[in-house]
Amino acid sequence: MDDLQTRKDDALEAIAAAANPDALEALRVEALGKQGWVSQLLKTLGKMTPEERTEKAPVIQQARAEIADAIAARKQAIDDAELNERLATETLDLSLPAPETPRGTVHPVSQVMDELAEIFADLGFAVKTGPEVEDDWHNFTALNMPESHPARAMHDTFYFPDHDDDGRRMLLRTHTSPVQIRTMVNEGAPVRIIAPGRVYRSDSDATHTPMFHQVEGLVIDRDIHLGHLKWTLETFLKAFFERDDIVLRLRPSYFPFTEPSVEVDVGFEVVKGRRVLGGSGDAPGHAWMELLGSGMVNRRVIEFAGLEPDEWQGFAFGVGVDRLAMLKYGMDDLRAFFDGDIRWLQHYGFSPFDQPTLSAGVGASA
Ligand code: PHE
Repeated sequence: MDDLQTRKDDALEAIAAAANPDALEALRVEALGKQGWVSQLLKTLGKMTPEERTEKAPVIQQARAEIADAIAARKQAIDDAELNERLATETLDLSLPAPETPRGTVHPVSQVMDELAEIFADLGFAVKTGPEVEDDWHNFTALNMPESHPARAMHDTFYFPDHDDDGRRMLLRTHTSPVQIRTMVNEGAPVRIIAPGRVYRSDSDATHTPMFHQVEGLVIDRDIHLGHLKWTLETFLKAFFERDDIVLRLRPSYFPFTEPSVEVDVGFEVVKGRRVLGGSGDAPGHAWMELLGSGMVNRRVIEFAGLEPDEWQGFAFGVGVDRLAMLKYGMDDLRAFFDGDIRWLQHYGFSPFDQPTLSAGVGASA
C-alpha cells in the first residue's frame, strides 16, 4: 500500500508538470490505459479474499479517481494557456482601412437581359437559350428561308467551311429565331418563352457591330392572335421603360417566318438632346422610331418544327437588346459596348448588388 501511495504521488507530480497534451496523454496511458499500472492493480481485486478486497478496493479506486481528476485539470490548464497565448499574439488592427470593395460592374447588356427575364417571368415566360454556332436548317430553312431565298443574303452571314454530320452548313446564328425552332422541336406546344443571346452579322458602323444581342419571344398555343402580341409588347415595353405612356404603332412588314408580319414603332420626343420614349409619335414634337420586328408565326414554320398548324398558332418577336439598353440608359455609340473600356463600364455599368426585381423596380439605379 505504501508502494501505491508513492506511485500515485509520483504520477500526480508528473501530471502537474506535463508540458503539452502529448506528454499528458503518455502519462494517462501509463497509469489508466489498459496496460497501465492502476488498471493492473484493479484486476488483482478479483483474486483477493473478500476481506482483503474490502480493505484495498477503495484505496485503488481513490488513486484512480485522483489521477483522472489531475489529468483533466492539467488538460484544462494547458488548453487555457494555449488560448491565452493565441489571444495575445493574434491581434486585429481596427485602425487599418477597410479592404477595397470589388471594382467590377455589371455590363448594361447583362443588366437589360436580367430585366427582360424578370419582366417576362412575371408574364409566365421561361428563358431558353440555343447555340451560337448553328446550322443553316435551324437558322434559315426551318424559318421558311430555303436555300435560294433572298432574305438569306440580307443577313450577311458568317459561314464556317465545315458541314455537320447531317450535311448542314454551319454558321454563326444571324438572329435568335432558331431558338423558336429548337424549342418547338424539343418541347412541343404550348410554348411561352424568351430567348436572349448573341447574334452575328458581317456589318460594322456606329449602329452596327458584327456581334450584337437580341431577345426572341415566342408564344404558341390555341387561338393566339395579333391582339395577344400587341398586349404583350405593350405590357413589356411599359414595364421595361417604366412609363405608362408608351404608345405603339404596328406597321405591316415582311419576315419569311411570320405571316402577317408587323414592324413595331414607338413614339418618342427629344429632351435635352436625348431620345425619350413616351407619347404618340403623331403628337406635336414627337416622332416614331422603329423598335422591333414581330408577327404571327408562319404556319410553314410550325410545320417545319413538327407541330400541327391547324391546332397550334402563335406570335413571335425579336428585338435588339443593345438598342434597348441604349434607349433606356442613354448611350449613343453601340461600339462602346464592346470596347471593354473600364471608364465606360464604371459610368454605365451596374452594381452587382442591384439585381433587377419587379418589386424594387426593374430599372436599377445606374
Ligand atoms: N429574326 C428577326 C431579325 O433578326 C426578328 C424577328 C423575330 C421578326 C421574330 C419577327 C419575328 O430581324
